[in-house]
Amino acid sequence: MRIAIIGAGYVGLTSAAVYAKLGHTVYAVRKDADKVKKLRRGEVPFYEPGLPELVREGVVSGRLIPTTSYAEAVPNAEVIFLCVGTPPLPSGEADLSQVFAAAREVAENWGPSPSPQSPPIEGGEVNGNPPPLVGGVRGGGYKVIADKSTVPVGTAEKVRKLISSQTSVHSSQVEFDVASCPEFLREGSAVHDTMNPDRVVIGVDSDRARDALLKVHEGLPGERVVTDIATAEMIKYASNAFLATKISFINEIANVCDEVGANVDEVARGMGMDPRIGPHFLKAGTGYSGSCFPKDTRALHNIALNHDYDFKLLKAVIEVNQEQRHRFVRRVRDILGALEGKTIGVLGLAFKNNTDDVRESTALDITRLLMKEGAIIKAFDYQAESNARHEITELVTCPTPEEVTEGADAVLVLTEWPQFRDLPWAEMKTKMRQPFIFDGRNLLDAKKMRLLGFQYISVGRP
Ligand code: UDX
Repeated sequence: MRIAIIGAGYVGLTSAAVYAKLGHTVYAVRKDADKVKKLRRGEVPFYEPGLPELVREGVVSGRLIPTTSYAEAVPNAEVIFLCVGTPPLPSGEADLSQVFAAAREVAENWGPSPSPQSPPIEGGEVNGNPPPLVGGVRGGGYKVIADKSTVPVGTAEKVRKLISSQTSVHSSQVEFDVASCPEFLREGSAVHDTMNPDRVVIGVDSDRARDALLKVHEGLPGERVVTDIATAEMIKYASNAFLATKISFINEIANVCDEVGANVDEVARGMGMDPRIGPHFLKAGTGYSGSCFPKDTRALHNIALNHDYDFKLLKAVIEVNQEQRHRFVRRVRDILGALEGKTIGVLGLAFKNNTDDVRESTALDITRLLMKEGAIIKAFDYQAESNARHEITELVTCPTPEEVTEGADAVLVLTEWPQFRDLPWAEMKTKMRQPFIFDGRNLLDAKKMRLLGFQYISVGRP
């Protein structure tokens, strides 16, 4: 099939590369000519394991076509996925301006393409050759416009109205359906998750759209959940909100464990063996962060409020998550005393391991809180240092994890990079002023750290 994907972030680019791998011809549309040039060389502008290789494979095969041009992609495409950002507005509502702008561009470029050739982008060569082109113009035939971005119920309908109102200018024969096809990939394992979905959710209101979207996903494992559009849109929010709820729940259990002397890791293990509960997303720590859970929980809470429904449980999930990082900082202060002038080593800045993403990172937030109290921070992350310095310009980062311990009054583990487990802790301890470790991710082996002579404090593991 011929597919256009609008937006080349984590969701857009990974989906584009995977669909190309499945044998489809995929236009990956991004406005930034510089980034498109890089994509044509297989360079991905963010860290995501396995994605550069897959993008390169797609480009070399000629099936993945990064382009800046809607006019090239849209007329050729049978299915168009909108994968643009839906960042939060100050109110918590999802900002849909990028979705509507993309839909408008799709509508404006619907008709027959002016040229079967891709507009050349200087420097966009692959192995010295121009990027492969797909010839032949399909023109403005039947298309499915599917949202992959996380969007409130009703967004697909708005996209339908917008496209109808715009395309009618060009043609009275425009045939299309809108759909919702949410993506559930996680950063850090985006390629694996997209190639191995647990389920493919297809929200449609016509057999034609259903068949097109089923065909796009042929060859991928996972159950197909074919449903109506509003339900599909809701499945995505409900899934993210439920996972966030599990995390806030286990964090509250951890806080109680701290009080009563129980071990939250063991509690989670014992709970997770019950298949009705399941073992996943029960890791206690400093709270969830990233580009999805914080934004989507707030957006869903807002959607409910807009319909005069007070989603009390979700409100508590959000509050617990906010409070968890403050509780952690209070703990550090209670044990170390006033933080003014204390040197604190921070291990981990990304919102989770295997990514360079620091959006809504609790690690960064905790770092900010410590700096505000006058602590001297020395930080390290395997991938996220440059993004973190962009957010906190005065942040001092170290080239190795060992160096954050030099002269430190305490070391804080704030991102769950597994490599931190195997650091030469005995040697690092000799460089510290005081042997305190605050493990905000329950990552290290408590027994081992105590045997090494550390004062080791974690979350819900007294
Ligand atoms: C999430 C969803 O998992 C994914 O399905 C959706 O498409 C996008 O949002 P992502 O944000 O990439 O994916 O990361 P995820 O692995 O879900 O972790 C989110 C946050 O929760 C991270 O800060 C992580 O450290 C934290 N987390 C996760 C916990 O604190 N405890 C856990 O048990 C699991």
